Amino acid sequence: MNESTFPVTEHLPTQAEPTRTTPVQPATPAAPRSLTPPDNYAEMPRPTAKLTAEDIAPVNDPHGPRNKIGPTGRPLPDLPEPQPPTKTGPAQVIAMCNQKGGVGKTTTTINLGAAIAETGRKVLLIDFDPQGSASIGLGVQPHDLDISVYNLLMQRDITPDEVIRPTRVENLDLLPANIDLSAAEVQLVQEVAREYTLQRVLEPIIPLYDVILIDCAPSLGLLTVNALTASNGIVVPLECEFFALRGLAMLTDTIGKVQDRLNPKLEIVGILGTMFDGRTTHAREVLDRVVQAFDERVFHTVIRRTVKFPETTVVGEPITTYAPSSQAATQYRDLAKEVLARCPAG
Ligand SMILES: Nc1ncnc2c1ncn2[C@@H]1O[C@H](COP(=O)(O)OP(=O)(O)O)[C@@H](O)[C@H]1O
Ligand SMILES: [Mg+2]
Repeated sequence: MNESTFPVTEHLPTQAEPTRTTPVQPATPAAPRSLTPPDNYAEMPRPTAKLTAEDIAPVNDPHGPRNKIGPTGRPLPDLPEPQPPTKTGPAQVIAMCNQKGGVGKTTTTINLGAAIAETGRKVLLIDFDPQGSASIGLGVQPHDLDISVYNLLMQRDITPDEVIRPTRVENLDLLPANIDLSAAEVQLVQEVAREYTLQRVLEPIIPLYDVILIDCAPSLGLLTVNALTASNGIVVPLECEFFALRGLAMLTDTIGKVQDRLNPKLEIVGILGTMFDGRTTHAREVLDRVVQAFDERVFHTVIRRTVKFPETTVVGEPITTYAPSSQAATQYRDLAKEVLARCPAG
């Protein structure tokens, strides 16, 4: 697992550093920000909810009885079916962020993006990981790219429309990445207003999309700080396993610093349990503990472990088109409803 390799503080301006181009208001005190587990977390009571497979229904399952307890141990909300938008934009920008690798960031970016695109919204996925996994997952070979998000960040004469390409999914565009992006992590350090680079290049395309999802790299370095600075919201995918909460304090510390110094608009949209295996008490206990610690911030939708996701990577398309009626596709559609309900403007 790739834990953070870049000390966050190196990339964040101190109060004295005049790197800002636009005046930033102080963070709104009302914005919820602490994602840190309570001090007594270790001694908190063991989860009591004993769920059977019958108790667990997808959110908004039209065939399931109402008021069922969901996989997170809370009653499932009755979320509205997203209506097609009447106009396009301005886009909600949401970063998928967790410095731990292999937690489902890329899978969530692709499949949440595709599920939102199905509702008629214009969606752009930004691959912001030098490994180019989101690009591969949508059938684009990173090493074949002549031009990528790297060129958009580093070359003033490149415009977004030169780099953005449509995907095979209607309403879903991709800003691809490849290994070149790893150089940006180093080269951006020299730039004026280096944390605002992505925000600056995205500005002209905000009116053209309803939702922009950024697939972050597994680090808390300057690229991720750029993604958080350019975003209104963060989704934190969390693998339902014992060490999931390790490193979350470092992530919330970074989020807090970005809120204070760079982007007071940034909010946590939600925490998403991924790779959940409801048959094991272990996965249920982990999820119960996450809910005890973070409560309403945890999405009701949980993504179950299934071999379908590795398969979609091979075919280079989202689950919503590869296996449209699968449970996995339904889960990402449920997540799309929750995300759209939490970001009404999206
Ligand atoms: N719900 C799931 N069930 C089974 N495998 C999954 C699931 N979500 C993701 N995976 C697989 O786990 C691996 C890591 O997921 P990925 O989305 O690439 O994580 P990250 O972007 O955080 O590194 C991939 O091989 C992916 O196909
Ligand atoms: Mg990834």
